[in-house]
Amino acid sequence: MIIGVLNGPNLNLLGTREPSIYGTATLADILAHLREVGTTLGAEIRAAQANGEGQLIDLVHGWRGLVDGIVVNAGAYTHTSLALRDAFTATAIPFVEVHLSNIYAREPERRHSMLASASVGMVCGLGADGYEYALRGLVRILRARG
Ligand code: DQA
Repeated sequence: MIIGVLNGPNLNLLGTREPSIYGTATLADILAHLREVGTTLGAEIRAAQANGEGQLIDLVHGWRGLVDGIVVNAGAYTHTSLALRDAFTATAIPFVEVHLSNIYAREPERRHSMLASASVGMVCGLGADGYEYALRGLVRILRARG
């Protein structure tokens, strides 16, 4: 099984970006851990990060037929991008949404996700660990679907 891990704008700055909200783990730390967990689950991790909306859409398109599912933190595009949701529905790649912070406990403009209605599920507010939980949940659901 191959799982894509897609990170959106500003998540390349994890570790130094508002650590009181997003923690001190870098994206490299998170991905290294996911690869370890993936090995125990029999899931290979493909990872990508982009700051542009179109780049993220192109990455989803490029993963069609290559990955079985995607763990995605779309950053601020979560709250605005119908186009990114359309990329997921157009490719029919199952995905789990993850957020380090609890978007429902933050500013009003962060309390809606454009992606959630098309997702398998969402993990938010559990920090960097949330990526692991999202990966475990996605793999489990994909296996159950066969
Ligand atoms: C985020 C939450 C978003 O509102 C924000 O724009 C991010 C990170 C999170 O992981 O908590 O960039 O997706």
